[in-house]
Amino acid sequence: MVDPKQVPNILLNNGLSIPVVGLGTWQSPPDGSLYKAVREAIKAGYRHIDCAYAYLNEEEVGNAINDAIKEGEVKREDLYVVSKLWLTFFKRDRVQVCIKRILKKLNTPYLDLCLMHWPMSFAQVDDDVVPTGTDGIVIDGGVDYLEAWQGLEDAVRAGLVKSIGISNYNSKQIDRLLGSATIKPVTNQVEVHPYLAQTKLKAFCEERGITLTAYSPLGNPGSQANAETAIKDKLLTDPVVTRLAQKYKKNAGQILLKFEAQRGVIVIPKSVSVDRIRSNIQIFDFQLTADEIRELESLDRNYRSCVFNINGIPTLPNYPFNDTIEF
Ligand SMILES: NC(=O)c1ccc[n+]([C@@H]2O[C@H](COP(=O)([O-])OP(=O)(O)OC[C@H]3O[C@@H](n4cnc5c(N)ncnc54)[C@H](OP(=O)(O)O)[C@@H]3O)[C@@H](O)[C@H]2O)c1
Repeated sequence: MVDPKQVPNILLNNGLSIPVVGLGTWQSPPDGSLYKAVREAIKAGYRHIDCAYAYLNEEEVGNAINDAIKEGEVKREDLYVVSKLWLTFFKRDRVQVCIKRILKKLNTPYLDLCLMHWPMSFAQVDDDVVPTGTDGIVIDGGVDYLEAWQGLEDAVRAGLVKSIGISNYNSKQIDRLLGSATIKPVTNQVEVHPYLAQTKLKAFCEERGITLTAYSPLGNPGSQANAETAIKDKLLTDPVVTRLAQKYKKNAGQILLKFEAQRGVIVIPKSVSVDRIRSNIQIFDFQLTADEIRELESLDRNYRSCVFNINGIPTLPNYPFNDTIEF
């Protein structure tokens, strides 16, 4: 258990702040496990929960946070609840449709932060998450992310969300967005861990007042998504990581999470295991040296586990990870 006051907050460009560690919820099954995970996380000191419309499990998060509030463990204003606009809701007047559905599922009056999940748009076909044609290829929604951003700005003005941000944006897309945004994104949530240290994107975002949030900070071990790229399972047993774990009497996960938090990167490890939920936030009683941070950064091999390469998605115009973009 960690006193939530010991978990540092990161100041955002709109004057609000976000706890540096949050609980991830992608692939957390809505069969009671996620409910228990969120209840345990709140008891363990987490105040920040990372959700998404597309994870299809937000009701369970909502039940857990509302039960914790009812039982007097926390108040809504103590929590930092994040969710993400899905790609089938990019038309300006559809953005709030998505957000209102999220709020209903989470059973909460507002989001602390709503991210645009990816810069590509998908067509609206019933309520399909990934709408595909008979050829199995995703159907392009043809809506520019600049339009979706206007919808997110409307949601701030309507009081549905306090902050807005982006996810999976590359450097060119960030500058294009900043060229027309009237509200700046507070964070860019992207994959970050020592094998994809994102030092250039981090500096680029920081120069523009945008924080970085690290998803898959443990490399998403064991996930069947993109299973062919098995290198990710090596991160937790990398010799540098295990050597530091021994030195500080911590586990490998704690070294990877401390690495991010100590360089000012918000980190959102996912777990539905009570022991891991607890240990993943117990990272504030030791300090890596500057040399150790550099050593971890030097493990970078530009390895990306979350490439979202199903159903021809990389052929969409705003797919962020192609060879012509350096970072
Ligand atoms: N914006 C985006 O496009 C995007 C993409 C990916 C992820 N995310 C967000 O980022 C969160 C975290 O990323 P992620 O879920 O991809 O991967 P992750 O947090 O790097 O890894 C999660 C996996 O690691 C296991 N685990 C947790 N703690 C561990 C520890 N201390 N030691 C060893 N294994 C551990 C978990 O299993 P158990 O549950 O069994 O403990 C789970 O299988 C997601 O849940 C989601 O909220 C966002």
